[in-house]
Amino acid sequence: MKSIYEANEDNIAKAAQVIKDGGLVAMPTETVYGLGANVYDAQAVARIFEVKRRPTFDPLISHIADFDALPEYVEADQRVWALARRFWPGPLTMVLKRRGSHAGVDLACSGLPTATVRMPDHPVAAALIRQSGVPIVAPSANLFKSVSPTTAQHVYDGLGDQVDMILDGGSCPVGVESTILDVTGTTAVILRAGGTTREDIEDFLGERVLLSHGEPDRPSAPGQLLRHYAPGHRLRINAEKPQENEFYIGFGTRDGDLNLSPSGDLREAAANLFAFLRQADTTAGGRTLAMAPIPEYGIGLAINDRIRRASHD
Ligand code: TXA
Ligand code: MG
Repeated sequence: MKSIYEANEDNIAKAAQVIKDGGLVAMPTETVYGLGANVYDAQAVARIFEVKRRPTFDPLISHIADFDALPEYVEADQRVWALARRFWPGPLTMVLKRRGSHAGVDLACSGLPTATVRMPDHPVAAALIRQSGVPIVAPSANLFKSVSPTTAQHVYDGLGDQVDMILDGGSCPVGVESTILDVTGTTAVILRAGGTTREDIEDFLGERVLLSHGEPDRPSAPGQLLRHYAPGHRLRINAEKPQENEFYIGFGTRDGDLNLSPSGDLREAAANLFAFLRQADTTAGGRTLAMAPIPEYGIGLAINDRIRRASHD
């Protein structure tokens, strides 16, 4: 497996050179693995879409490691700076108004007047971004619409040697993607529930934050597509107990073939979610999948969002 490299100092330096030379590096973040490229290299950005088989109308997130890089091609007002200082580094992505124009950035943003930016809370991602010296655009490092990768092996299983280097930093601690918060309007709107909870954002802003489930035909965050994050098997959700011939993924006291968190801890459940969906897929055989109900608060919002889309046929 030549493309997986332990994320040590030498290999991070090598990976930074790959980014500078226009290559693709899969990097661990606290949420999921990202497939990274130099945002200022339009050809490298184009290759991300190719390798993921992702439509170019589905924009990418820019990852930065230092606050100074925030205003490089977006407008940041006081509220944006306050949110950044409170939640970065961490799993919060902000949709911001763009300024200026650059071929790579235009492509990464699918020509939209907005750009998404986040600062990942992971030492490997931070070191890679700093040493590359540019913002790194990175979608989740999986094929479009499939289950997101939370280990280096997941990346390899999906994308293989099309990635120049996969930096192995172990399992992603959060396990679901970042929360996407649109702050271009007066009221902040969550376009994708994720690792930063709605409750924490509302507490900090001191106001209600809207939650958009999106328009399925014209998603503003294509993570909003009805079917996404999908395992190969059919998945039934909110299942109080398994039916005959079902592989059951439990939660809390509802035990099963797997249990997302025997103690009912939503953070643990989120960290296990994608790996368990993959494991269920490979071991269920002729059975279909079913999952126990997950409480709809905190990071449970993100879990329920992902499994709703994963279960859509
Ligand atoms: O946690 C994460 O966010 C991971 C790690 C690697 O950082 N990244 C990730 O990227 O999940 P991706 O590309 O798989 O999902 C990004 C989502 C997509 O649904 C995309 O449509 C949306 O963000 N998005 C990107 N730019 C946008 C914009 N300007 N307006 C609205 N949605 C946008
Ligand atoms: Mg994705």
